[in-house]
Amino acid sequence: QPITSSRKLVLLGESAVGKSSLVLQFVKGQFDDYRESTIGAAFLTQTVPVKDGNFVKFEIWDTAGQERYKSLAPMYYRSAHAAVVVYDITSAASLLKARAWISELQRQADPSIVVCLAGNKLDLADSQRQVSTEEAQKFADEEGLMFREVSAKSAEGVEDMFKAIADRMPID
Ligand code: GTP
Ligand code: MG
Repeated sequence: QPITSSRKLVLLGESAVGKSSLVLQFVKGQFDDYRESTIGAAFLTQTVPVKDGNFVKFEIWDTAGQERYKSLAPMYYRSAHAAVVVYDITSAASLLKARAWISELQRQADPSIVVCLAGNKLDLADSQRQVSTEEAQKFADEEGLMFREVSAKSAEGVEDMFKAIADRMPID
């Protein structure tokens, strides 16, 4: 019979890159143009089907990107099975911040953590892109990370990204 495995997933990244928006799109299929910046962290769950009729129940910690909350992050990523490190494709600075989160995870998180680099706001690619797909893909390849470009606004790539992460979670 089907097994449901609970797996802890944390979102990290600079403020306003769209972490909360990605979670809202994944969990509720919604998007807001005006979202309040997260205070501390928010918790949501979502269950997704994986192979062999089993399920992964993600326990999602959506962290606050503002600098004043930075010291809280280790509490959320320490025992995480997966991390989505988000940058905004219209902000080169946000990719630098994502790189810093990735090196912190490499030093401090569980070595078996599955990390996905996510370039959000793909809907703005034509007019405002600052980070090329190639640059981010190359970085992800060098670091051995999953990589996706997504849009919390249009929903493009969002479900696919979380499903791909779920497929990499051990089932037991
Ligand atoms: P903190 O909670 O401060 O860390 O920010 P956050 O990373 O959770 O960002 P949030 O989801 O609050 O989104 C910030 C702003 O970007 C909001 O105004 C969103 O509407 C907007 N936004 C988020 N995702 C997208 C997207 O995919 N496309 C576009 N065009 N705007 C987006
Ligand atoms: Mg937020």
